[in-house]
Amino acid sequence: MKIPFWEKAFKNDKTFLFGSSPNKTVTEFENLFDKNGVILDIGCGDGKNAVYLARQGFENIDAFDPSEDAIEKLKRISNKEKLKINAQVKSLQEFNFEKQYDLVLSFGVYHFVPEQEWKSFILKAQQNTKRGGVHIIQMFNDSLPPTPDIAPYAVGMAKDGELKDLYKDWEILQFLSYEFEEEHPGVPLHKHASNKLVARKI
Ligand SMILES: C[S@@+](CC[C@H](N)C(=O)[O-])C[C@H]1O[C@@H](n2cnc3c(N)ncnc32)[C@H](O)[C@@H]1O
Repeated sequence: MKIPFWEKAFKNDKTFLFGSSPNKTVTEFENLFDKNGVILDIGCGDGKNAVYLARQGFENIDAFDPSEDAIEKLKRISNKEKLKINAQVKSLQEFNFEKQYDLVLSFGVYHFVPEQEWKSFILKAQQNTKRGGVHIIQMFNDSLPPTPDIAPYAVGMAKDGELKDLYKDWEILQFLSYEFEEEHPGVPLHKHASNKLVARKI
């Protein structure tokens, strides 16, 4: 199988394909969270969000990704800075919940997982979130076709808005439907359709 373009950057501690700064939504909502809160970063990649939160003093961060190179890179970064991140090589299909979380993050991951699998994972994540806990999700929807860089892997793109339907019993703090352009080394400028959801368990 073809290796996704992001794997190359996971081998290099100096290159951050998806940026080394946290996602804007994390900084926008971080004041809601207690530093003792239990956090899970799904498909964390090389960990820009987990690393940021650990640097802010959050101490209970679990993060997983199926890429061995991504997790090794994240461990090298966190060991160097003595950050408390429990990083594991795992896919969301393999992950078993063993605790209740205050914050569950998933940026740019679910569209790479078949629809039934990401939907049932969300249900499990909801059951394993404390009352008052928050989920932050960004994923692509199929309002635009998958671009060539992700087409072989984007097996589970959502319908625009369906993510929100899965959270109808939660308080929606933010829901966005938007298009954005990006460019990666070797991949020309292209456009994605995306949904972002921030929801709190009532
Ligand atoms: C676009 S990257 C995003 C990485 C990170 N969340 C970020 O925002 O920088 C997509 C990530 O999803 C991970 N991924 C792919 N399939 C997955 C699965 N089945 N379970 C969990 N993560 C997966 C990839 O290994 C990759 O690190």
